[in-house]
Amino acid sequence: MNNIRYKLLIMSGKGGVGKTTVSVNLAYSLAKKGFKTGLLDIDVHGPNVPKMLKLESEKLGGKGEKGIVPVQYNNLLKVVSMAFLLKKEDAVIWRGPMKHKLINQFVNDVEWGELDYLVVDFPPGTGDEAISISQLLKDITGSIIVSTPQQVSMIDAERAIGFSRKVDVPVVGIIENMAGELFGKGTMESFAKTKGVNYLGHLNLNREVVLSSDSGIPFVDNEDLDVTKSFKGITDKVIEFCKHNQSESED
Ligand SMILES: Nc1ncnc2c1ncn2[C@@H]1O[C@H](COP(=O)(O)OP(=O)(O)OP(=O)(O)O)[C@@H](O)[C@H]1O
Ligand SMILES: [Mg+2]
Repeated sequence: MNNIRYKLLIMSGKGGVGKTTVSVNLAYSLAKKGFKTGLLDIDVHGPNVPKMLKLESEKLGGKGEKGIVPVQYNNLLKVVSMAFLLKKEDAVIWRGPMKHKLINQFVNDVEWGELDYLVVDFPPGTGDEAISISQLLKDITGSIIVSTPQQVSMIDAERAIGFSRKVDVPVVGIIENMAGELFGKGTMESFAKTKGVNYLGHLNLNREVVLSSDSGIPFVDNEDLDVTKSFKGITDKVIEFCKHNQSESED
C-alpha cells in the first residue's frame, strides 16, 4: 500500500447527515494547513465529492507508472471518486464483490504517493463498502461519526459506533451537524459521554453550507462563517487525536 500516515473514515448510521460536507471540508482544511492529503469517495451509488469541489467534469488520469493518477483540487488535494469513472446519468448496479474489487483498486492501484492524511467519505450506513474498506485499508487511524442532533439520530450514531468497534477501528469522535433551533443542539455531546467517545464539536444548520456545497467551494474558505470557526476546533481535535494515537503506537 502507499505510504499513508493517518487514515480517517467519515461515517454515519444514516444518509444525508453531512458526511460528504465534513469529508470535503476536513480534507481541504488539512491540505491548507500544509499536510499532504488525499480524499477518497467510496460512495459507489451516490458519489458527491466531485460536485462539492466542482470537479464534475474530471476523469481519473490514465495509468501512471505506479497506477491510477488522482484528480488534483487546487493543486492541494488528491481526490478519487467513483464519479470520475461514470457519466453523470449512469446508474450503478453493483453487487458486493464488484464493489469490493473497485474499492480495492481505489486503495491499492491509485498513486496516492506519500500522504499525511487520507480522508475516506463513506456512503450511508454500514453496508458492503464500509466492510470492504475496513478490510482493505490497513492500520486505520479512526472513524469520525457524523450525526444530526435529533434524539432519533442516536440509534443511528450508535450503530456507526458499533460497526467501528466491531472492525477494530478506534472512534476519533462524534460531530453534531445541523445543530440549531430546528433540530436541537447538544444531544450528541451527552450521547458521546454515555458512549465513552470524544465529542469533536458541532456545526450549526446554516444556509451558507448548502450554498457552498452547491457552488463547489468548501465553506472553510470563508473565514467569517460561524461554521468555519467551529470547524477549526473540530479539525484541531482530529489532528490531536492522530498525533496522540501515533505516539501511543510508537511507544
Ligand atoms: N450544517 C449544515 N447546514 C446546512 N446544510 C447542511 C449542513 N451540513 C450539510 N448540509 C447539506 O445537507 C445536504 C446533505 O449533506 P451531505 O451530502 O454532506 O450528507 P451525506 O451524509 O454525505 O449524505 P449521503 O448519505 O447521501 O452521502 C447537502 O446539501 C449539504 O449542503
Ligand atoms: Mg455523502
